[in-house]
Amino acid sequence: MEKLLKKPLIYLFLVGCLGAQQVFAQTKQGGKPISPDLFGIFFEDISYAADGGLYAELIQNRSFEYTPADRYGWNSFTAWEYVTKGFGYGAISVESQLPIHANNPHYARLTIEEPGQEGIGLQNNGFDGIPIKKGEQYNFSLFTRLLSATPIPLSVQLRSRKGDVYGEVSLNADAKEWKKGSGVITAGVTDDSAVLVITAKERGSLDIDMVSLFPVKTFHGRANGLRADLAQTIADLKPRFMRFPGGCLVHGDGLGNMYRWKNTIGPIEERKEQRNIWSYHQSMGLGYFEYFQFCEDIGAKPLPVVAAAVSCQNSGGTWRIGGTGQKGLPMDEMQDYINEILDLIEYANGPATSTWGAKRAAAGHPEPFHLEYLAIGNEDKQTPVFRERFKLIENAVKQKHPEITLIGTVGPFPAGEDFEAGWKFANENALQVVDEHYYEKPEWFLEHKHRYDSYNRSKSKVYLGEYASRGNTWFNALAEAVYMTGLERNGDVVRLSSYAPLLARTGHTSWNPNLIYFTGTTITRTPNYYIQHLFSNNAGDRYYAGIVSLDNEVNTGASCVKDSKTGDIIIKLVNAGENKVKAKASIASLVAPHANAAVTVLTENTTGKNAPAVAIATSQLEAGKVINYEVAPRSVVLIRVPAKK
Ligand code: AHR
Repeated sequence: MEKLLKKPLIYLFLVGCLGAQQVFAQTKQGGKPISPDLFGIFFEDISYAADGGLYAELIQNRSFEYTPADRYGWNSFTAWEYVTKGFGYGAISVESQLPIHANNPHYARLTIEEPGQEGIGLQNNGFDGIPIKKGEQYNFSLFTRLLSATPIPLSVQLRSRKGDVYGEVSLNADAKEWKKGSGVITAGVTDDSAVLVITAKERGSLDIDMVSLFPVKTFHGRANGLRADLAQTIADLKPRFMRFPGGCLVHGDGLGNMYRWKNTIGPIEERKEQRNIWSYHQSMGLGYFEYFQFCEDIGAKPLPVVAAAVSCQNSGGTWRIGGTGQKGLPMDEMQDYINEILDLIEYANGPATSTWGAKRAAAGHPEPFHLEYLAIGNEDKQTPVFRERFKLIENAVKQKHPEITLIGTVGPFPAGEDFEAGWKFANENALQVVDEHYYEKPEWFLEHKHRYDSYNRSKSKVYLGEYASRGNTWFNALAEAVYMTGLERNGDVVRLSSYAPLLARTGHTSWNPNLIYFTGTTITRTPNYYIQHLFSNNAGDRYYAGIVSLDNEVNTGASCVKDSKTGDIIIKLVNAGENKVKAKASIASLVAPHANAAVTVLTENTTGKNAPAVAIATSQLEAGKVINYEVAPRSVVLIRVPAKK
């Protein structure tokens, strides 16, 4: 700008051609570039986040694959009941001789000796009941195989727990080989806890598997899709990326429990289900295709995590009974494992003519998913076993796919042995990004808001992949907000960040706190959610130091960023303390004065149990060269000064 002003003719020419606003924007850029991907989400299948959560399937244990290994007391008929009303009788059993697919070995056999007046059959109770809404349609499907001579008509009903019929569809079991049948049921009433009942009213015998019920209205109307309200709540965060599918889930509690992505794609009846490390079951209905598709639907870059060919070090002993602790895949299996990871990249990005790109295309997505990030390992203990395998994977991916940004791991804590060793290893390898994790008290986040100020800018960048301040109170949220202003300030070294965990089904939580709690019909956004929402919806790609000052630095945070797409200047002021704080933002060098800057103030909502956790007030202010603002105690203020008048 200074140079330009020395050349008034050029300046006037530019003003004439581009308009004053644009010249202002181009010449006053300043600040430092920060990561445009700073705020994202981390989805782990924990606390029923997938089955019984985001995955819209309403039938629990649809393929009769639950086992006591998933959870003590579970079996193939968990969530199912044998129904014999009206004096019918027969038998029900679980079989495995001739399954639909070897990956899906169990199925139910129903033998009707005497159907009675109401037939006999099976009832599924869903996940804490099947929530249905009056007038809504539900896609029902199942596989049957007829064992007796004549076809068996099946009645499929949505019912109340007492037996009132809410809607039904009729199907015929008429094929000697496995055959899929389907139909649509319209719910006549709203019931948060309905059941699905399949009954046969003819004598005979048949096999049943893959009993499925989805709302027709899934997120974006996808087949095998996601629960619309929950997916929308996540989409509203406008996350720049999504890490999936875990967490500890990825490396598993033994080599046989590692998450293997190839088991999760293709027809759902051919996916290989497995025990969830969080003591339940993964149907894999929400698999890699669905994860990639969801990322695309919400505009988030996919960030898959694959195990570093080792299982979880914490899984032995009493913590997780049956776990083996850290074990490495045998070296003679490593090449196959590495190929599996290379194939994942091809599945995401390869042309539809490539082997794995073709599988993506067959699933309905010929275009690539534009994978940029890949994380290897999760909080793994930094042992020779881990390092040897990590290095092999890293080298292979770097060599074949230098375009992929690899993310390493530095343990589960913000400091200590694995953290130090992990960073040393990353630096020795010139790794692009490392994944830090920490769950600490809110006070810790307030005290450590300058953590990244001193990070070496020439070393690996940081992905703060998991963090939370151990609570869902407004104070927790405020502490995280203070910390997040520090992440923005250091957005040149912190490239990505995600609160963890994202989702938890009330009554089935494996971990607390979480960002969003839900039941079959309700969604609770925590105070922490509102903070993530505010930062992510108001992120920038340039950071300006020295613009905002506060008259009290204790328990407070402030940041000033610019969103280059809009040119807006975005100021965030956080006061986690009990006294008001005076803020001054000198924005004259960044943006032209604006009469209507948008102000959003977040405070705790104390109005009642069913009210949202956070009160949001919006207003406007006149933004001159300087904005003076008094930040109320325990509040977060966002001031957005638009570039355009
Ligand atoms: O976020 C919950 C768990 O915390 C993750 O699975 C694991 O990575 C971390 O220990």
